[in-house]
Amino acid sequence: MSAMNQDRKTLIVANWKMHLNVHQSSLLLHRLNERIKIHRNIEVILAPSMLSLQPLSLELDRRKFKLAAQDAYFKDEGGYTGEVSFAMLGDLVEYCIVGHSSRRIYFGETLETVRDKVQAAVRNGITPIICIGETKQDRDAGEGRQVIHDQLTTALMNVTSRDLDKIVLVYEPVWAISTFDGIMAKPDDVEKAIAYMRMQIRELYGERAATKISILYGGSVNDTDVHGYLEVPGVDGALVGAASLNYHQFSAMVDVAYRMRLKV
Ligand code: PGA
Repeated sequence: MSAMNQDRKTLIVANWKMHLNVHQSSLLLHRLNERIKIHRNIEVILAPSMLSLQPLSLELDRRKFKLAAQDAYFKDEGGYTGEVSFAMLGDLVEYCIVGHSSRRIYFGETLETVRDKVQAAVRNGITPIICIGETKQDRDAGEGRQVIHDQLTTALMNVTSRDLDKIVLVYEPVWAISTFDGIMAKPDDVEKAIAYMRMQIRELYGERAATKISILYGGSVNDTDVHGYLEVPGVDGALVGAASLNYHQFSAMVDVAYRMRLKV
């Protein structure tokens, strides 16, 4: 019996990271389009590079795929050379990944930067997909919970209960991202972390909000383990990096989600 929640959609997000030029992105979209079916309870969200968003937005079937940016800047406009704002992305994407660990680690994004980006997303009608998760160091020091707490509460600092309907959270333990060496989060760890996140939402916004919010899992998810993660109580989908670049694997993952929904 699947633990999937009937009131929340299943979200499968493809984070292509800094891979694929415009032509390659378009080719991958084409391949996915041939294999993926429309399903009203499943949302397949593609996050290509900033450069590919515009061309892909003209090519994709919006009933089948939604677009996400991988990041954007929190100011709406101004002298911020090299940046693209949420305001500029407003017509193009429905989602934007915010606070991905690579932004926090390589680009020095602080809790406050993430908070401001969440605000900018909400202000511009874009749903932020907020990544939350502890590093190996945090975990070894027994500070995993505290880090999850701090990242979550700061990110949502200025988010009202009404805005919360347009927020997606992801539990992404940094130590389990793109590991390729078999270091995976155990379903039990994922269940506990996500239950903790839902408890935080309950404390901040109440029971209804805690039941409604979508929380995904991310970290080396592939076509062989996706079923196990989607089965974890409280998990509403997956944020997939490396395996999303392979159309066989990614469409197989969507298919797993599809079959699981059929059983609910
Ligand atoms: P991964 O990446 O699936 O390669 O671990 C997840 C992510 O996009 O953060």
